[in-house]
Formats: sequence, C-alpha cells, structure tokens
Amino acid sequence: MDHHVKDMSLAAAGKARIEWADADMPVLASIRERFEREKPLEGVRVSACLHVTTETANLMRTLKAGGADIVLCASNPLSTQDDVAAALVSEYGIRTYAIKGEDTESYYAHIDAAIDHMPHITMDDGADVVGRIHAERREALEGIIGGTEETTTGVIRLVAMSEDEALEYPIIAVNDADTKHLFDNRYGTGQSTLDGIIRATNRLLAGRTLVVSGYGWCGRGIAMRADGMGASVIVCEIDPLRALEAVMDGYRVMPAVEAAKQCDFWVTVTGDINVIDEAMFDAMKDGAIIANSGHFNVEINIPHLREKAVSSREVRPLVEEFTMASGKRIYLLADGRLVNLACAEGHPANVMDMSFANQALCAEYMVGAASELEPGVYSVPEEIDESIAALKLQTMGIEIDTLTEEQEKYLSSWQEGTC
Ligand SMILES: NC(=O)c1ccc[n+]([C@@H]2O[C@H](COP(=O)([O-])OP(=O)(O)OC[C@H]3O[C@@H](n4cnc5c(N)ncnc54)[C@H](O)[C@@H]3O)[C@@H](O)[C@H]2O)c1
Repeated sequence: MDHHVKDMSLAAAGKARIEWADADMPVLASIRERFEREKPLEGVRVSACLHVTTETANLMRTLKAGGADIVLCASNPLSTQDDVAAALVSEYGIRTYAIKGEDTESYYAHIDAAIDHMPHITMDDGADVVGRIHAERREALEGIIGGTEETTTGVIRLVAMSEDEALEYPIIAVNDADTKHLFDNRYGTGQSTLDGIIRATNRLLAGRTLVVSGYGWCGRGIAMRADGMGASVIVCEIDPLRALEAVMDGYRVMPAVEAAKQCDFWVTVTGDINVIDEAMFDAMKDGAIIANSGHFNVEINIPHLREKAVSSREVRPLVEEFTMASGKRIYLLADGRLVNLACAEGHPANVMDMSFANQALCAEYMVGAASELEPGVYSVPEEIDESIAALKLQTMGIEIDTLTEEQEKYLSSWQEGTC
C-alpha cells in the first residue's frame, strides 16, 4: 500500500492513543456502527486533508466502515502525530501521507498524492485540496461529486471562490454547523491553545497578561479559559460588535499597539494577516511570548521579526527566542503555526466527536444529494446538526424537556398578545 509516514514502529503506540480518543467519541462510534451495517459510502473515493490526529483517525475508521476508499494527507506541516499516521497505515489500512515537520515541497507532494486518488469527495481543513485541484490539478474535477470543509478560514476561501464563480462543485461548510463551531472552535480551541502554550513554555498564566487578537468563536474560548486560569485578559478586535461583546464579558479591550506594551502572552486567532506586525513588536516588553491558533501562519509577521532580530535560537522545543537590537527578547511558539496542534495534541476528542460526526454524516448526505446541488458553498442540513446535538446529549446521559402541545401551538401563533 502506498503511504509516506515517519516511522512504522510507532504504530502500536498510535493505535493505543486512537483507541483512547475513541472512548470519548460516542457519537462518531454510533455512526460507525450504522455505517458498518448500511455501507452508505460503498465504492466512494474520499481524499481527506485534515490534521492527522487520533480524532481524525477515528473519522477515517468511520468512513472506511461505511465503505469509503480513503487517502489521507496532512492539512498542516506541524500538526501530524507520527504515531497516529503509522497506525492508520498498518492497523487500519488507510493510505496516509503525513510527517510532522514536513517541508513545503513534501506538504504539497502529499496533497498531490491525495488528489492522485481521483476522489469523488474531498474533505478539507483550510481548502488546500480544493484550491490545488482548481488551480493545478483540474483533471481531478471530472469525478468529484462534492466536498466538505472543516474550518472558518477554509469556508472564507471557498465563499470567495464561489463569489468569483470559480468553484466548480458543491461543498458543505461543516464549520458553520452549530454542533461544530459552538463547541470545537470555542471549547476545543480554548482548552487546547492554552494546553499548547503551557506544554511549550511551562510558564504560569496566573497573574500574567494574556492578549487575544480576535474575539470570534475561537477567541472567546481562549479568553474564557485564560481568565479561568487567573490571567488578566486583553482582547483586540476590529469589529465593534465583537469588541463590545468582549467588554461586556469583562475583558479589557484596546488597540493592539497598546496591548503590546502589557502582554506577557499573545495569541492571534483571527484568520487575518499580519495581526502582530512591526509596531507591536516595537512596543512589546522584554520576554513576551507570542503564538498563533488561527489556521495559517500569517497572523504574526514572522519575516519581519526574523529580519529585525539580531539573533535567534531555539531555547526549548518549538520555542524560538529572538533578540532585538535593544536587547529585548521575544519568544515565538511553533513558528507561528497552530499552537494547539503543534505544541499539544489539538482539540480533545469529546468536541471532535461532534465535528467529525458532521463530517461523516455530510459525506453520506453528499452521496445522496450531490446530483441536485449546483457548485457553491452549502450549510450543513439542519436535521444533521440537530440530530448530532440530540445524540450528544443522550451519550452524556442528559435528558431535556419537550414542548407540550399547548406550547407548540402558542409558539407558532401570532394571535395571542399582551393580555
Ligand atoms: N486552532 C484550531 O484548532 C482552530 C480551530 C477552529 C478554527 N481555527 C481557525 O481560527 C481562526 C478564527 O476562527 P473563528 O471561528 O474564531 O473565526 P471568527 O470569524 O468567528 O472570528 C475571527 C475574529 O477575528 C477578528 N479579526 C479579524 N481581523 C482582525 C485583526 N486584524 N485584529 C483583531 N481581530 C481581528 C474578526 O473581527 C472576528 O471577530 C480561523 O483561521 C479558523 O480557521 C483554528
């Protein structure tokens, strides 16, 4: 079987970790059991470009149980868990192309290997496969019926493609499902980003100032968790509504240059470019630790930092110290790549349970519905989103009330007024 992973001897360790994650992914497990029986993806070729983690392995197992023929490659050069990649190949028979720390050339060679599979369905996290197929591998377009997209930045790219009438097949924006971004982006990124910063630095957060750029779903989670650990949180935003929300949630809000003067830690999570730039580097105090949890490593102007620093060295794994002409030191984590995946293990399985339940059910939906969908970006069908929320509650042993007949009637009528 073709594959490219770091070290097959890591497979047993990877399998144990995949099973550990699986034990906390009950919704996905129940979908896998049904897929095993019903085989809704029989003969469907899937090219998936996702972070190669334990949770992704369980999604791959689920798609395979449904009959899919899968090739998996990494959606980030630093997020691959090499033991998981090895286990996927040897224990689960999934062709995997991913090595932690791969260079740009290997990253795209791996994406090309996934495209060589001539997929019926693409499954992206950041739209790199879709982008490459449309720009350079157009021969693959012929067999594709549709795709799915996992993250905010990918959805933004796809919507831009669709508006330019450049997108040639239908894609479901999994990110936009409530059972995805409300939990994965908020609680998943919130917990795992701090986990990444702590594992990389072993610094105390309590009593320190942590700046979050971007108060979207991810930023809210990071601010909430940092606050809970005793950090004093500053939020930087460009959207007045989001900034106001951060103020009312109890955080200090100010321009990035002002925040730079106070920051001990800084996390960008905007999906935007050069959010930490020259003026912020100049204003930062000695010892500031900066990291990114947004999809691409463009949120911190690293080329500028490299150019202006008089020296740099790795002081701990994935912690690079830059010394500026003034003697000031700035510490960059994971070369500005997703800190939660590069320095920790990404989101905990329990939230990925819902994100990947959406992926599995959307792949199944795409097989049935693709012929009726024009090229474009589509929402996750409401029934899928609601069924995942209901199933998740059920697996947590939580029951809720249902509307009485009287309440249903009341809520759907307009005749009843103040008195
Ligand atoms: N680390 C992970 O595992 C993970 C998980 C989910 C999403 N993501 C990525 O994180 C990023 C944010 O996702 P989200 O769902 O929170 O998006 P979002 O759209 O909900 O929030 C982004 C926020 O950033 C703000 N923003 C934009 N430019 C800014 C700037 N220059 N300064 C300050 N704020 C600015 C926007 O106004 C918005 O409020 C995306 O790139 C997404 O793909 C990462």
